[in-house]
Amino acid sequence: MIKVDLSGASAFFDPAELDFAAAASAHRMLTEKSGAGSDFTGWLELPTRIRDGELKAILSAAQRIRSRSKALVVIGIGGSYLGARGAIELLRPVPSPDDPRIFFVGNGLSPDALSDTLEQLGDVDFDVNVISKSGTTLEPALAFRIFRKLLREKYGSAAKKHIFATTDASRGALKSLADAEGWECFVVPDDVGGRYSVLSAVGLLPMAVAGIDIKTVITTAICSFKELDLRSPENPAWQYAAARQYLYGHGKSIEILGCYEPSFRFMAEWWKQLYGESEGKNGIGIFPASVEFTADLHSMGQYIQDGPRTLMETIVSFENNRRSISVPFEMGDPDGLNYLAGKEYADICRTAADAVKAAHISGGVPNIGISVTARDEAGFAELVCFFELACAISGYMSGVNPFDQPGVEAYKKNMFKMLGKPGT
Ligand code: PA5
Repeated sequence: MIKVDLSGASAFFDPAELDFAAAASAHRMLTEKSGAGSDFTGWLELPTRIRDGELKAILSAAQRIRSRSKALVVIGIGGSYLGARGAIELLRPVPSPDDPRIFFVGNGLSPDALSDTLEQLGDVDFDVNVISKSGTTLEPALAFRIFRKLLREKYGSAAKKHIFATTDASRGALKSLADAEGWECFVVPDDVGGRYSVLSAVGLLPMAVAGIDIKTVITTAICSFKELDLRSPENPAWQYAAARQYLYGHGKSIEILGCYEPSFRFMAEWWKQLYGESEGKNGIGIFPASVEFTADLHSMGQYIQDGPRTLMETIVSFENNRRSISVPFEMGDPDGLNYLAGKEYADICRTAADAVKAAHISGGVPNIGISVTARDEAGFAELVCFFELACAISGYMSGVNPFDQPGVEAYKKNMFKMLGKPGT
C-alpha cells in the first residue's frame, strides 16, 4: 500500500490537529453516495466492474493493433488522454521494438504540433483510438476529422477497422458516428467523469497497446480500493487529504507535486487535472503545480526555497529503482568526483532528496512524502487509486463537489460563439 510520510510537515502541525473526523465523514459521503455529485462516483467500482467481458474486448483490440500496426494515434484531451499518457510514459519510457509508437493528438489546437505528429507518423500502418465522452469537444473532434481522412486515403473501405471509439454508451455525436460507420466502440460509463476514467477503457486500451499489463493494473486496483476503504487515521488517503486541507487553511494555497523520476512528468499532469478540476471552484481550492527534480531545483528551486511562503510540497518516490548505475573511478580525479566513485546513482539521488527536503522545510515549505514500492503496473494502479480517493475526500472536506467542472464551460461558450458555431 502507498505510504504517506507527514514527518516533513511536523514543524507545521501536530498530527493531532488534523481533522480526521472530517475525512471520515467525507469518506462516508463518498461510499454511501450521499454527497454532491454522487452520480459520478462510479470510478470507485471501475476495476471490479471491468473484470468480465470488457477487459477481454480491450485486450483483443490491443492485440489486433499491436500485430498489424506500427503506431496508435490516441485522440483525446483532458481526462480523455492524460491518464493513459501518464501511465505509458511512467511504465514504458523506452518502448520495446515490438511496441507500436503511441502518438497523442487532439489535445490542443496548434497546427505545428499536429503537422509534426503527421510527419513523425509518416506512412506506417496505424490505428486510431478516438476518446471523447461527450463526443463534442472541439480539439479531438477536429483532429479526428484529419486522421479519418488519412485513414480513408490509406485503407479505403477498410479504414473503419482501424478506428476504435471510446465514448458514451448511447449518446453524443461520436457515438452516432461510430454506430453509423461501424467502428468498434468502448464505453466511458455514465457515472465516471473524464478525470476519474483512467481505469476504464479510456486509459486501458492505449495502455494495453503500449505493452502495459492491464490485468495487473486492474487486479492491483481492486486490492488498493479495498485497502483504502480503511476507516481510520491510518488510511493514507485520509492522511494526505487532511494534511493538505490543514495546510491550505494555514496559508499554503499552492501544492507542488514533485518526483525525481522524469518519467513521472505526465502522471503529474494527470494529477494536476484531477486536483485542479475537482477542487478549484466556488472561489477556493489549492492550486496544483508540478516540478521535476532534480532538474527544476536549478530553476524553480529558488522560488520554492525563497519566494512567497504559500507553498506545500508533495514528493512521490519509488522505493525500488528498475536499473542501477554506479559512478566510475577515474585515475587522477580530474573532475574531483572520486569521492563518489563506486556509489550508486540511486543512493546519490536519495541523499539529494533528503538534502532538498531539509532545505525546503527550513525555508518554510511543508513536505508530504508519498512512497510507492516500484515504478511498475502495481505501483501505477496504487497511485491512481490513492490519488483519486484522496482527491474526492479532500474535495468533500473543503465543501465542494469534486465531480463537476462548471468553470470550463465559460471559455467554450465564448470560443464557439467567436468561431461562429451555429446556434451559439
Ligand atoms: O475531466 C473532464 O471531464 C475533462 O477533462 C474531459 O475529460 C475533457 O474535457 C474531454 O472531454 P470529452 O471526453 O467529453 O471530450
